Amino acid sequence: MASLTHKDLLGIAQLSVEDIQLILDTADALKQVADRPVKKVPTLRGKTVINLFFEPSTRTRASFELAEKRLSADTLNFAASTSSVSKGETLLDTARNLESMAPDIIVIRHSSAGAPHLLSKECRSSIVNAGDGMHEHPTQALVDALTVREVKGHIEGLKIAIIGDIAHGRVARSDTMLFHKLGADVWACGPATLIPWEFHQLGARITGHIEEALDSADVVMMLRLQQERQTEAFVPSTREYFNFYGLTRERMRLAKKDTIVMHPGPMNRGVEIDSDVADASYSVILNQVANGVALRMAVLYLLSGHAPLRPRKPSR
Ligand code: CP
Repeated sequence: MASLTHKDLLGIAQLSVEDIQLILDTADALKQVADRPVKKVPTLRGKTVINLFFEPSTRTRASFELAEKRLSADTLNFAASTSSVSKGETLLDTARNLESMAPDIIVIRHSSAGAPHLLSKECRSSIVNAGDGMHEHPTQALVDALTVREVKGHIEGLKIAIIGDIAHGRVARSDTMLFHKLGADVWACGPATLIPWEFHQLGARITGHIEEALDSADVVMMLRLQQERQTEAFVPSTREYFNFYGLTRERMRLAKKDTIVMHPGPMNRGVEIDSDVADASYSVILNQVANGVALRMAVLYLLSGHAPLRPRKPSR
C-alpha cells in the first residue's frame, strides 16, 4: 500500500481516491486507541504540532488537540485573540516566527480562503487546513466519509443530500468533492440565493426543493446558515427558512427507512434541524464527532511520513 506523498493537507481537491482510502483505513486502524485503558501511543513522540486557530472552533480544535496528545506529540495551542496578531502582526509574519521554533506540523484555521496554501509555500512544516474561509474543510469531509463508510459499509452509489447554506459553507464544498470522488450521487439543496452554480462542476445535482433532495436519500447532511459570513439577507428570516428547509420528523418520512442524518456542527436547533431529528436514533451527529479524533490522528500520522497501518476491516 502506498504512503501519503503530500507534504500538506490543504484540501480534498488535491487528494486522489487512493489518498482518501488510505486516510480512512488509517483512521479505522487508529480508532482502537480510544478503547485502551491508556489512550496513548508513542508514534509522534518528539514531534511538535502548533494549532493556529484564527476563528472559533469546538470540534475541530478539540479533536486535533486530543489526536496530537494520543499520538504523544508536543502541542502548542495558539489563539489569535491573545497573540501579537491583535497588535497588527500579519499572518505571514506570525507563521514565520512560529516556524523558526521548528514545529513539524502547523494546523491552521483562518477566515481567509487560501491562508493554509500561503503558509504551505512559506513553511518547511507540514500544513493542515482546519477550515479556510468559505473554501475547504478537508478533515471534516474525511470525518464525514469515515462515518458514512462505517454505518453504511460503503459510499459508492449512495444518494447523499447536502441541505442548507451551500454558498458559505466550506464543509459543503469539501463534502461534495469527496463524496463525488468516491462515487456517491451528491445533491446540493437550499434556496437559490445560497447555492452557487459551480457546485454542478464539483459533481453535485442541484435542487431548491427539500422534498426532492430527501426522496430516497441514504444520507442527509444538514448545514447551518453561516450568518457570520453572509453580507446581505439571503433568506427573509430564520423562521421562514425553517419552514422551507428545516429538517423535521415529518420530512424525514420522504427519505429511506435506514437514512442517516448528519451535521458537521455547530448545529442551530430550530433553524436548519428540529431537535426531534437531531436527537433521533438515525442521527449519527455524535458519531461524526467521535470519528474526528481518529481521523485527525490518521492525518497527523501519515503527514509525519509513517507507513500505512493495516486496517481492522478491509476497505470498501
Ligand atoms: N465542524 C466544525 O468545523 O466545527 P467547529 O467549528 O466547532 O470546529
